[in-house]
Amino acid sequence: MTFKTRFKVKLKVVFAGLVLAIAFPAQSYFEPAPVAGRIRTMNGISMAQYPDFEKTWHLVTVRYRQDSGELRFTYANDLAFKAMKDLSPKYPEGAVFAKIGMITEDDPAFTSSKVPSGAKRYQFMVRDQKKYKSTEGWGYALFDADGNLFDEDAKAKTQACAACHRLVPERDYVFSRLMALGVGAFQSKETALAKTLEFKSQPRAKVPKTLAALLGKYDLVSALTGEIQRQAFSGTLDEIVPTLIQRSIQMQSQAALIVNEKNFSLVVPVLGGEPCQNKKQTRLLVHVNFNDKAVRHAELCQ
Ligand code: HEC
Repeated sequence: MTFKTRFKVKLKVVFAGLVLAIAFPAQSYFEPAPVAGRIRTMNGISMAQYPDFEKTWHLVTVRYRQDSGELRFTYANDLAFKAMKDLSPKYPEGAVFAKIGMITEDDPAFTSSKVPSGAKRYQFMVRDQKKYKSTEGWGYALFDADGNLFDEDAKAKTQACAACHRLVPERDYVFSRLMALGVGAFQSKETALAKTLEFKSQPRAKVPKTLAALLGKYDLVSALTGEIQRQAFSGTLDEIVPTLIQRSIQMQSQAALIVNEKNFSLVVPVLGGEPCQNKKQTRLLVHVNFNDKAVRHAELCQ
């Protein structure tokens, strides 16, 4: 199946999504528009199975996306939480993780303090070794704020979920660890995601023209390869941006995830631009192209 058919969405829907994405670039985890009330089950998993999980399960950790201002809260049911706490090498049958992606906004009472402000999406991982054999015993599901599926091919999306989670086989494909209180406690024990990703240098002449037009003076693009690139879906294009930022700063060059000429994410250091307030930071251009349209195009300092 081609990337194009996976992303076949009604024009109307794409247009609404783009208007939103462009109007709110600071919170631009873009996604294809939801299919209202049509499909509510992915891989046999639905939101209705886990009512009020955010009140009754254990909060495992919180992650913050600096580039999009998004907060992610990860919860575990009792079985998953116990295994995580015990650092068990395998999660038992019935273990379930849920992640909420929240947009943030300023608190008018104290604007430098951002507050969670509305769920954008819910993601689940359900352990059932028999049922989900081809995805390492985890059933993956993604829903919008109303519990509907996004308008994308669920099979292709499942492959994209599994492809990225395969980066952490030593954690039984679960990225999260329990929040640690010690300073630097997480990094000291864990390897960074970017270390296990593979990149390949591509000359300017080999990349699609649409992407080449956005490149700075550099002749090479450090492009992500491997399963994540092959299985990418719209969520991957956005999810990968922090990794590309890290790669771009590390290599002092441009980094990209190129699916095809219409779908790619690119990070380019901006040379000769306004210096960042914090002199240690680099000014970067972040560009995400989805179905031939720029859904994200912004400069940031990092
Ligand atoms: C490009 C990489 C990538 C893709 C694609 C991806 N994830 Fe994740 N996922 C992560 C990372 C990294 C975390 C850790 C938390 C965070 O940074 O938000 C995570 C965390 C999670 C968690 C919390 C448990 C854990 O592993 O920490 C769930 C549940 C989850 N993802 C479900 C999904 C589903 C469902 C899909 C597909 C629709 C998906 N993921 C696709 C990278 C990815």
